[in-house]
Amino acid sequence: MKVFKLKTDLQQYLNDLRAEGKTIGLTATMGALHQGHLSLVARAKEQTDVVVATIFVNPTQFNDPKDLEKYPRPIAHDIRLLEQAGCDVLFNPEVTEMYAANEQWHLDIGALEHLLEGKFRPGHYQGVTQIVFKLFDVVKPDLAFFGQKDYQQVMVISRMVELLSLPVKLVMCPIEREADGLAMSSRNVHLSAQEHQTALVLSKTLFWLRDHFSVDEMADLQQQGTDQISHAPGVDFEYLELADGETLLPATPQSKSIVALVAAKVGATRLIDNVIVK
Ligand code: PAF
Repeated sequence: MKVFKLKTDLQQYLNDLRAEGKTIGLTATMGALHQGHLSLVARAKEQTDVVVATIFVNPTQFNDPKDLEKYPRPIAHDIRLLEQAGCDVLFNPEVTEMYAANEQWHLDIGALEHLLEGKFRPGHYQGVTQIVFKLFDVVKPDLAFFGQKDYQQVMVISRMVELLSLPVKLVMCPIEREADGLAMSSRNVHLSAQEHQTALVLSKTLFWLRDHFSVDEMADLQQQGTDQISHAPGVDFEYLELADGETLLPATPQSKSIVALVAAKVGATRLIDNVIVK
């Protein structure tokens, strides 16, 4: 696997491959890789000739400086995992390579910015669109692979692609789960064994919603799901919503697809998860 720290070196390398007619797949990550990320690499390998992974802990998407500071950064282990997964290229820039001092960014993504995650993490999606725009600009991927785990993020990036007419196709890949149902996340390393058990109420409730889903009973189901999670000891509930799969506004009986999304803190660790129920 080729590893690049500088944009110009990466661009030159990819330009040559593009000139040979090779297609490029991008898997953007913040590192601390797990099976979820590796499944994106596997998907990218199936659908494109050259797979570029990026590892960059993007400061502009963190609204809590402590969260940024304690974000895991096991780079040597990550490189080994990417090599084993057959990834072709890793781009792992420093912050100064990606940002000029006092850079400004704002993209009007409408309601998507302030609902669900946006309510709890103000500014988060501005930071995400800012860095993903830059990564698309450097890598110029034909296809970009993102995990369904961050469902709202996929919708936000998709809106950016549409608004700015970016020449990239997005592929949303299914959530990878532990055998017990917990959605894989880089933040899971912060959970103690007891907290891991406690966190299972999130996926259990989502599966319950999926299994009992009926458009006629959405309000009642959402309330019962909320009760299951908010009454669980050790869980600091944030939201559970049945949302329209495209707009993420509250689902209606007319919604073509419906997704149940949840966020809660277990101990000091904030977790999100979702299941497509329709
Ligand atoms: O999903 C993530 O890990 C990040 O939000 C992303 C897309 C790599 C942007 O920093």
